[in-house]
Amino acid sequence: MVCLGNICRSPMAEGLLRHKGREQNLGVLVDSAGTANYHIGKAPDARMVQTAQKNGVDIGGLRARQFVLKDFDEFDRIFAMDKENYGHILSLAKNDAQTSKVSLILNDEQNVPDPYYGSLSDFQAVFDILDLATNGIIDNIKHE
Ligand code: 4NP
Repeated sequence: MVCLGNICRSPMAEGLLRHKGREQNLGVLVDSAGTANYHIGKAPDARMVQTAQKNGVDIGGLRARQFVLKDFDEFDRIFAMDKENYGHILSLAKNDAQTSKVSLILNDEQNVPDPYYGSLSDFQAVFDILDLATNGIIDNIKHE
C-alpha cells in the first residue's frame, strides 16, 4: 500500500487489509510505504489513528518508511492510493514484471483523497473508501 507520506492513507489501507486477512486466515503479508521521505520513522497521523480505532482497527504501532526498489521483489501486488503516486512507482519499475504488479487501489482511475489538510470527517471518508477497497482485494485474493 503506497501513498505520499505513509502517515494517512497507506497505513490505513495496510491496517484494514491486515485486519481482514487475519480475521479470515488468508495468510497475507501486508505492508505500506510512502513515495516521499518527509515522515520516515513517524507514527501515522493522530487523526488517522483515532479514526481507525473508532472503527475497530489498530494502526498506532505502524511507522512510516519510504518505498524502496526491493519492494518490487518482496510483494506480489503494489497498490497506489492516487494517480500521482501510481506514476511515481511506475517510473521506478525496471521491467514488465515489476510494472505489472502496480495498480491504483480504486477502480476507474479514482484517487483516495489526501486527508492531510482536511478535517476528521475527511479521515472517516478515507476509512470508508479503503474499507470497501480492501473488501475488493480480499475477494480477489480468495478467487486467486
Ligand atoms: P498520506 O498523506 O500521503 O496519505 O500519508 C500525506 C501526509 C503528509 C503530507 C502529504 C500527504 N505532507 O505533505 O507532509
